Parts: sequence; C-alpha cells; structure tokens
Amino acid sequence: MNILTDAEDMRAWSVEQQRERLSIGLVPTMGALHAGHEKLIEGAVDNNDAAVVSIFVNPTQFAPNEDYERYPRTFDDDCAKVRTMGVQAVYAPDAATMYPPDYSTYVNVEGLSEGLCGPFRPGHYRGVCTVVTKLFHAVMPHRAYFGQKDAQQTAIIQRMTRDLDFGIEIVELPIVRDTDGLAMSSRNAYLSEEERKQAVTLYQALQAGESLIDDGVQDVQAIVDTVRNTVDPAIVLDYVELVDADSLEPLKEASGSVLLAVAGRVGATRLIDNIKVEVA
Ligand code: PAJ
Repeated sequence: MNILTDAEDMRAWSVEQQRERLSIGLVPTMGALHAGHEKLIEGAVDNNDAAVVSIFVNPTQFAPNEDYERYPRTFDDDCAKVRTMGVQAVYAPDAATMYPPDYSTYVNVEGLSEGLCGPFRPGHYRGVCTVVTKLFHAVMPHRAYFGQKDAQQTAIIQRMTRDLDFGIEIVELPIVRDTDGLAMSSRNAYLSEEERKQAVTLYQALQAGESLIDDGVQDVQAIVDTVRNTVDPAIVLDYVELVDADSLEPLKEASGSVLLAVAGRVGATRLIDNIKVEVA
C-alpha cells in the first residue's frame, strides 16, 4: 500500500492507474476510522479497481471554538486497518502544504450550506467543499464515497460536483450504528459513560418521529415535537428539522423523500444524526 503525502505524488500515482485503465474510488476521511468509514471503504474496494482513502484533519472546516486540536488522530492504526481492507493508497497531506500562508481560494455551495448545521457551524461547509475539491484534484477518482451520517455534507458535495463539472460519481452509503443505535462517529470517543447513554436517545427520538410518519402523520410540528420530547433533556439541541431529502428545504408536511435530522450537544460534544423516510 502506498502512503502519499504530496498532491503531485498523488496525482502521478492516479495518472499511472488511469494509464492502465483502472477505475479509482476515493473515500475522504479525517481518520480515527470506525465501522462507518469501513463501510465506505468496502464500497470503494468492491466497486473500483483501486481504492484510495484520504486521511486529513482539515483545519478550514473547524471554527476557532471547535475541536480541531483535540480531534482524535490515530494515523498508524488507520493505515494498518485500511491495508488489511485492500486499499491501494492512502493520501495524507499535511496542513501546511495544503494551506500555505498565502492560501486564498475557497469553494462555497450557496443555499444548501445555509440550513440545518450551517448557522451553527459558520464557514464549515466552505472548508469541506474547499478540501474535497483539493482532494478530488489530487486523486482524480471516478467515484467518491460519502456517508448519509453527514447527509447535508453529502448533498452539498453532490451539488458541488454537478455544478463544477467534476465528472465524479458521488456514492452515498447508509449510516452505520453501534449495537445501542448510536451512529458511529469519531467524536463518540469524547463521550463519558453517562453522556453515551444520553446520546443514544438521539436515535430513539428519530425512530419515534419515523413511526409517526409511518402511521401517516404529516404534521411537521407534531413530528418535530415528538423528537424533541424523546431526546434526553440533558442534550442541548441545536435543531430538529424535517426537510426534503434532496433540496434540504423545510417541509410544510411530511411527503415524498424526507430527511428527519437532529443536532445537539451532549456535554461538550456536538453530535448529529438523521433518518430518511419515503412517505408512501
Ligand atoms: P469524517 O467525519 O472522517 O467522515 C468521513 C466519511 O465517513 C463521511 O462521508 C461521513 O459521512 C462518513 N461517516 C462517518 N460516520 C459514519 C457512519 N456512522 N455511517 C456511515 N458513514 C459515516 O466527513 C468528513 O470526515 C470530512 O468532512 C471530509 C468529507 C473528509 C472533509 O474533510
């Protein structure tokens, strides 16, 4: 397995694959790999000739008050893990090379970035789109794999890829959960035992909302209230929203493809989760 740390070296490697007519699947990550990432990696390995995993804790997507410094970094373990999974290359650039002191170019997807997590994480999606653009240019994949866990991020990347003619197929894979239902996240490592018990209620609350929708309830307020009332009161909610799964626009009633999304803080840890429902 190749470990590449420079965009030029990465591109040279990818050009070599393309010369041999091999398809490339990319899984962008910030490392601290867990079963959620592994699902994406399996998808990339199974459906492409060569799979690349990028590992880069991207400073431009963290606000100054966020957890950039303490974000878990487990690079050696991550490499050992992906090596056994059949990944051909790890792309792990360093922050100083990605963003030299006079760095000044950013990619911003309007509209989609402004709802849900947007107001709570100013500049976050601009940082995500900028780094994913850079990763796409370095790796030049045919397909790139993203998780429904970050449904807004995936929708934004899909729009950016279409709008900017990247010609890359964006594949979204479902949320991987722990046995207690908590969505896998690198940030779960921050949770104390008690916080973890509280965090589990996020998914239970989404399920309560989902069963209302399944019972034919279309009243958005009733669905949102049920979710809010099921979440452990120790969790400080940023939002509970029911939006169109594609446009991410708030819905007046539950119909079509809907995304029921929640974000909140459990102690100092911000967690997000969601469920997609096809309303019959
Ligand atoms: P990271 O949080 O490491 O997540 C990398 C990918 O794994 C994302 O597409 C995310 O949606 C997916 N993922 C995380 N938890 C998951 C779960 N429980 N089930 C399924 N998929 C899951 O998202 C980022 O990194 C960054 O913003 C990045 C796109 C790499 C840009 O820096």
